[in-house]
Amino acid sequence: MNFYILTLFPDMVMQGLHTSMIGRAVDRGYLSIEAVDIRNYSEDKHFRVDDYPYGGGAGMVMQAAPVCRAYHALKDRIGKEHLRVIYMTPQGRTLSQKIVQELAKEEDLVFLCGHYEGIDERALEMIATDFLSIGDYVLTGGELPAMVTIDAVSRLVPGVLNNDASAEFESFHDNLLEYPQYTRPEEYMGKRVPEILLSGHHANIEKWRRQQAILRTLKYRPDLLKEANLTEKEREFLEKAKGK
Ligand code: ADE
Repeated sequence: MNFYILTLFPDMVMQGLHTSMIGRAVDRGYLSIEAVDIRNYSEDKHFRVDDYPYGGGAGMVMQAAPVCRAYHALKDRIGKEHLRVIYMTPQGRTLSQKIVQELAKEEDLVFLCGHYEGIDERALEMIATDFLSIGDYVLTGGELPAMVTIDAVSRLVPGVLNNDASAEFESFHDNLLEYPQYTRPEEYMGKRVPEILLSGHHANIEKWRRQQAILRTLKYRPDLLKEANLTEKEREFLEKAKGK
């Protein structure tokens, strides 16, 4: 999977994404990440890429020309006819695991990060294929949202996680939150690990984990439960838990 980020702050994204699991996946060749500095495509002698908004108003707007030039240079270089170009904006669809799964099917993804009051609408009309938000709050730019999205998509790329199975079974798979996890020691500050996890009885452990996932989802995200794939027995368990 290849990620390209059109940005005014290439160091921010490259530094942020070259650590931990994602950095390791890049080193091992499962992912490639490249930041393109939009400022390099300014034709202004001071490398300016923004200007005042027509019609007045606060702040500055990123100009269409440097953004479009940066995109077309990238497109020509990688030689693909159609590229998915995701503009990160609070006005977009809200990112979800479902969207992450859909994006993970692509071979190349281009992220366009705006700053100031945004990007000239004409550039967006010409190059953006998707508009994506990471939540109902406003950040200073699209870099952090692009990094969040890249992180979430990357962990679905085969080979990126050490253990391929774990991507499937984590929170939001099946619309249930994750069950609680414990590691050594068996007792910490007087709090013991649930006995069942020490029993070695795999079927009972699996059942307990599903029940814990259901209880957590009921407590913190009951909205997810209507889409959850529960067995008849698990539905009964849920109804009992609701009554408590
Ligand atoms: N740019 C600024 N805020 C944002 C958000 N919440 N999501 C995506 N892009 C953004």
